[in-house]
Amino acid sequence: MSYIFSFHSPVEAFFGFDSIEKIKELMAPYKTIGIVSGRTSLEATGMKAFLEAELADRSLHFFSEVEENPSINTIIRGGAFMRSARCEAVIAVGGGSPLDAAKSIAVFATNNDSFYELLAKKDMPNKPLPVLAVPTTCGTGSEMNAYSIITDAEKTDKINFSKPCMFPKWAVLDPGLLKTLNERTLLATVFDAFTHSMEGLISLRANPFSDMCAMTSMELILATLSAVEDLKDERALVNFMYASSLAGTVILHTGTTLLHSLGYYLTNNKKIHHGTANAMLLPCFMEMLREKGVQKFNVIPSLFEKHRFDINLWLERLGAEPLSSVLTMDEKPVMAAYALSKPNMKSTPFEADADYVVKKLV
Ligand SMILES: [Fe+2]
Repeated sequence: MSYIFSFHSPVEAFFGFDSIEKIKELMAPYKTIGIVSGRTSLEATGMKAFLEAELADRSLHFFSEVEENPSINTIIRGGAFMRSARCEAVIAVGGGSPLDAAKSIAVFATNNDSFYELLAKKDMPNKPLPVLAVPTTCGTGSEMNAYSIITDAEKTDKINFSKPCMFPKWAVLDPGLLKTLNERTLLATVFDAFTHSMEGLISLRANPFSDMCAMTSMELILATLSAVEDLKDERALVNFMYASSLAGTVILHTGTTLLHSLGYYLTNNKKIHHGTANAMLLPCFMEMLREKGVQKFNVIPSLFEKHRFDINLWLERLGAEPLSSVLTMDEKPVMAAYALSKPNMKSTPFEADADYVVKKLV
């Protein structure tokens, strides 16, 4: 690893129980505010009533139509919605999908070009609206980076629409918002965070700062999973949220690797939750890292052993199916070719062809 590196993390983040109370102060300069969310989490978490009470003297415009794995169409509609309401700022509430969508919606609110026109440009013609990210899951880490993963439904493909101007301006990380998640969703998002940190650690783009964040995040997740009976214990929720945000900072620097691009195939084609897909792929990806002799991987089995972490028991608790029961023999080469074609391979610390990946997908 090179000790010549840079890191950049411009998000002003506020952490802790009741940190949502900071929202009123952060939104003080704005009279007209757009709120981006999925269809249910805003009400389920109590955030709708909270925002309506805290920001009662503002004009609030709710765009609560973000689906899981948001499509190009959704973000274009969201941008037009913000533009016609003349919103000055965006509050994003929810998991990875609403947070990722909000970052793109903030771009399309001020830019009227087509998705692929803007994707091809490095800088946006007009500055996006400022975004305040309020995560209600603990996996995406989206609040800490500029990534916005958007689905092209026609091409069954996931595209990272990410520009330097797309960092949220603020993040409010309130572990109390995780209380309404069901255990499986909570666990799936925790696995997503774990894979962000693990992939970040072994990424070709890793640096000493990202390694420090990755190690802390993985230790915290494994120690918490092995120590608590109730995953929704307050101490566990604090640890999961912190670990997830650290992991979001990790992938900001390192990107994700082959595991994530394989996972995209399962989400695009089998409708498996992103975090669950990553968890299902963890054992075979770890086997690839071991077999390919990736040196930095050696720390992972040691961490599992230290925390008596049995991945198979957790996959069962997550309700994850074995890869062999969700993929036919004909699908495996298609999945491998798709994953190998994604930019994630630039960060993956080994070379592989489709035959090799197919053999490991067991
Ligand atoms: Fe992820």
